[in-house]
Amino acid sequence: MMQNEGRFFISKDFPQSLRNLFSAALITLGLGYVFAMIQVYETHAGLDGNPGINANDIAIAYSGNVNTSRLTTALLGPMSGNAPSRERRAIMDWATDGADKAQYEASIKTIIDNRCLRCHDGSEAGAPLMVTYEQLAEFAKPDTGMSLATLVRVSHIHLFGMTFIFFIMGFIFSHARVRPAWLKHVAMIGPFAMMITDIGSWYLTKLNPEFAWIIIGSGAIMGMCFAVEWCVSFYQIWFSRRT
Ligand code: HEC
Repeated sequence: MMQNEGRFFISKDFPQSLRNLFSAALITLGLGYVFAMIQVYETHAGLDGNPGINANDIAIAYSGNVNTSRLTTALLGPMSGNAPSRERRAIMDWATDGADKAQYEASIKTIIDNRCLRCHDGSEAGAPLMVTYEQLAEFAKPDTGMSLATLVRVSHIHLFGMTFIFFIMGFIFSHARVRPAWLKHVAMIGPFAMMITDIGSWYLTKLNPEFAWIIIGSGAIMGMCFAVEWCVSFYQIWFSRRT
């Protein structure tokens, strides 16, 4: 049986069409992974008020932080480039102080009109409306984190999407020659196990921010498995000979 398996393993002797297809898939999946990491950074960095990304940022993204609001979180994170710090500070203080309507009319509305309505007037897809006091005040309430509805939506997207990614990666990698054999099995099945751990921890992090560490850990293990599958497959497609 081992004798026939040589034909099954990827190597320079593997059919050229499949070497091309596998390589192309590896390259686009690799790029996809890089962009996914940039996206994670962009949406989480600075949520806790400190630059960069850490466990607090992850915890806040899922469980929220009742000492703050989605408005403040956005102004410290993804929306921080849209207004000078003095004006952002004014909006954040207003939210912290209870989002008073009179104060909104007196000073906050002008800032929002000038800095935010360019997108938040309905013209930019995905940017929630902030034209009226009521619409803005909704975001100034204490932050209770990602809603259950959002988590459910993102969970199913992740489970379907990532199964495609790791099925394709695993299929290519299943043609690699790896010793010890358990390493191959772990690298192939690990990402699926980590997907479930990761998504389960989103819900648990809503209850207890400490679970942010499990989200980080499962993401790290998933990344290591991806790297092993990618590097071993790519190397063997282009450099290894059938033995
Ligand atoms: C260049 C377009 C643009 C500008 C200018 C802009 N935003 Fe946004 N904003 C978006 C988009 C798109 C989203 C939805 C995607 C996201 O959450 O990043 C968003 C989301 C938000 C959210 C929701 C975050 C959440 O928890 O869902 C808040 C709050 C917000 N912006 C506040 C502001 C404020 C305040 C300003 C002005 C200082 C501003 N934005 C200026 C495009 C913009």
